[in-house]
Amino acid sequence: MEIIIQPGAEAATSIAARIVARLLREKPDAVLGLATGSTPLLLYRELIAMKLDWRKVTTFNLDEYVGLPQAHPQSYHSFMWENLFRHVNITKKNVHIPDGNTKDIPNICAKYEKQIKGAGGIDLQVLGIGTDGHIGFNEPTSSLASRTRIKTLTQRTRQDNARFFGSEDKVPHHVITMGIGTIMEARQNLLLAFGNTKARAIAEAVEGPITSTNPASILQMHPVTKLCLDEPAASQLKRSDYYRWVYSNKPDWQKY
Ligand code: F6R
Repeated sequence: MEIIIQPGAEAATSIAARIVARLLREKPDAVLGLATGSTPLLLYRELIAMKLDWRKVTTFNLDEYVGLPQAHPQSYHSFMWENLFRHVNITKKNVHIPDGNTKDIPNICAKYEKQIKGAGGIDLQVLGIGTDGHIGFNEPTSSLASRTRIKTLTQRTRQDNARFFGSEDKVPHHVITMGIGTIMEARQNLLLAFGNTKARAIAEAVEGPITSTNPASILQMHPVTKLCLDEPAASQLKRSDYYRWVYSNKPDWQKY
């Protein structure tokens, strides 16, 4: 794991944006895995401002709520079109987001896995992290080998996401999410985390044991995973001086 600690979310996002932009410039038909939520908003804003060419890019989103109409303002379909896709020249048929309204969830999940494989696998997966350590919506004790499937959100995640819905009872109970095994097959993972509510999950994921009770900890087993953190999210890391030292001594070509 490469831990990149920056003073604020803007600086951390700007490094993440340079990593994504480099991939899209070097591989115009790259396959990107994308996340939703508050964390990647700045990243998407920055990528839009970079005016990259998205025409040949293929995307796969991590997850979607079950049972929310696609047009619902809080569906991840709406989120992605509103915050990224409608601002770039992406080709609509290259966008993939799990269908949370399907009558046949197992079938849609198996198809999603096939589509990812068919596209050649994910080159770079953008990740946020839940306050409980979830990645995608793989809640604590999810199988570390899991594939795309339905999951039940924990009470904590529903409370965390109530801010988007106005109240907790409006947050759906179920989601379709890529599995941890699916995420681990991405060639590169780029996890962003901001704010002190994420500090504990980050410290456990980076410096704790690999355990399904903190699903992000499996990223310790991934060969190319970068974490872009602001100071508050990094505040419980015991070796933060070491991570800062390593990053500041990297050759420039390795930094982005
Ligand atoms: C969203 C996702 C989740 C979020 C996590 C953090 O697609 O997969 O894992 O990244 O819940 O959410 P925010 O960024 O809102 O704190």
